[in-house]
This record gives sequence, structure tokens and C-alpha cells, in this order.
Amino acid sequence: MRSFKEIKEHYNFTDEDAQRLVSLKPVMESRDQEIAGALSSYIMSTIIGARLLTEDARRTHLFEAQQQWFLAMFEGNYNNKYYEKLIKIGIVHVKKAVDAHSLNRAVNIIRSLCVDILYTQKKPAEEILADILSFEKILDMNLDVMTSSYIEEEIRNYSSLYRIKSALVDFSEKFLQSANLVLVLALIGLTLGAIALFLTDIQKLFAGDLENGIISALGSLLIIWVMIELMNTEIYHLKGGKFRISVFVSVALVAVLRETMIAALKHDQSVMMGYLIAAILVIGFVYWIIMQGEGRTG
Ligand code: HEM
Repeated sequence: MRSFKEIKEHYNFTDEDAQRLVSLKPVMESRDQEIAGALSSYIMSTIIGARLLTEDARRTHLFEAQQQWFLAMFEGNYNNKYYEKLIKIGIVHVKKAVDAHSLNRAVNIIRSLCVDILYTQKKPAEEILADILSFEKILDMNLDVMTSSYIEEEIRNYSSLYRIKSALVDFSEKFLQSANLVLVLALIGLTLGAIALFLTDIQKLFAGDLENGIISALGSLLIIWVMIELMNTEIYHLKGGKFRISVFVSVALVAVLRETMIAALKHDQSVMMGYLIAAILVIGFVYWIIMQGEGRTG
């Protein structure tokens, strides 16, 4: 929190302003009932004010407290005690859950009334203007200190929430990195497995089973191709690119294609062949639709 000295410097609040405010005390004292009355009326018109201030004794106490606060602005003692009192008032409002908006509006009411009073003084215009400016400074400083309690409360809430949130984000990020590592390692393992499958198919080919060998090897090649596509997608995704769901559909498509090719080789005429062809058509159609969507979103 800023020191009061710093706040006064920022508002360019000088000794001349302090003296001017002291000189305004008689005029303001003669109207303090009216001002505190306007403030009370406003407070009682708000939901929170009406809810909290149901007892007469409490309302009277508040009325007096507000009168004291108002007159203290024209007493010239703008020291640390004054500052601490304002902080205390701010804290009371935060604790009573009076929102900062209502406090701002209440200050706005006081400002309008006081500017009106100062404006109708019988004084040269420059003097009136200087009075208004000094009054505006002390009122703004008051509002500044009182509302700083709200800001600090917000920061406190925010910082504890923020700490939980950032710990959660950190954890999720680390978990995601580990999951990605597992995925990449699994993809490498599966690609090696597909290469091993391809090599066994080639072995069949050299063993003289030409027809079986070629078709099986082609199927294995298809799987290797899809594995490479999957790895490419994962790398692209890790670099921040968009996730391509079509690659996963193509895995399913290639797996069924391979099954069909093998079944065809065995001259399989069973209903299984019909299911495989139907599956190719359905997966192929889904693949086409997804590709259209991915093409459109780039
Ligand atoms: C210019 C604006 C305001 C000033 C200067 C002001 C001033 C004060 C002061 C001096 C107190 C007594 C603090 C203490 O016990 O130490 C107080 C209390 C309180 N104020 Fe304000 N107030 C303002 C606006 C509001 C508004 C807008 C509301 C509600 C909408 C409000 C509701 C209350 C309530 C509920 C209390 C506690 C009363 C109690 O429990 O005894 N105030 N206020």
C-alpha cells in the first residue's frame, strides 16, 4: 500500500490546499447535516444499506460517523492518523460487502452537493475555483484510500486463486508433456513393429509364396505409411499445429483394406468379405467427410 505522503504528492495536494480546506470549515459545518442526510438517504436506498441498517441505533451511529468523516476533511490534520482512519473505513465497507460502485456513487453525491455549496459562495470566481479544486483533491484522495481496501482484497482473493490455477496449469502441462512422450515412444515402437511385419512378408515372398507375399507386403507397407503419417501428425501437433483426426480414420481404413486384401487372396467368399467391403465404404465415406472439414478449416 502507498504511504499517505506519496498519495498527497500524486494528487499535488499542497499546504495551500490544506489551508484552503480549513478556511472552508465554517461553511461546510453549517451544511454537514444536509450532506450526511443525503448520504444516509442514498445508503438506505441501496439493497445492502437497507439490509444492514435496520436498527435505529445503528443508523444514528453511522450518521454521526459520516458527519465526523465529512468534517475531518476540513480540519487540516492530514497525517497518518487521518490516513489510518480512512483505511479502517474502507475495510469496514469491504467486510460489510458494500460494493465499490456504491461507495463511488456516494462520493459522487457528496461531490455534487459540496461543489454546489462552494459555487454559491460570495467570493471572486478564481477563489471559488481554487476552493473547488482543493475540495476535489481531498475527496478524491479519500475515495482512493477507501477503495484501495477493495483492490487489496481483490488482489488477495485473486492471488490465492491465481496460485491454485497456475499450479493446476503447471501440473497439466507436465502431465501433457509426459503423455506426449509416451505417445511418441509408442508410435516409434509400433512403426518398428510394422517394419518387422513388412520384413516377414518379404521373407514369404523370397520363400516362393509370390502372390501371398506381394499382397501381404503391400498391406504392411500401407501400415508403415499410416504410421509415418501418425508420427508426422504428432510432431506437427507438438509444434503447435492443429490436430488432424483424419489420420486416425486412415489407420482404421488401412487396417480394413489390409484385411480385405488378405481375405481376397484366400479367395474368401464368406459374409466376412461383405462386412469388410461395407466397412471400407463406411470408413472411406467418414474419411472423405473429415477431409472436407479439415480442408475448409485449413
Ligand atoms: C462517501 C461514502 C461513505 C462514507 C464516507 C462512509 C462512512 C462510513 C463510516 C465512517 C463508517 C463507520 C466505520 C467505523 O465503524 O469505523 C461506515 C460504516 C458503514 N457504512 Fe459507510 N460510508 C460511505 C458509503 C456507504 C455506502 C454507499 C454504504 C452502503 C450502501 C455504506 C454502508 C455502511 C455500513 C453498513 C456501515 C457499518 C455500520 C455498522 O455496522 O455500524 N456506507 N461508513
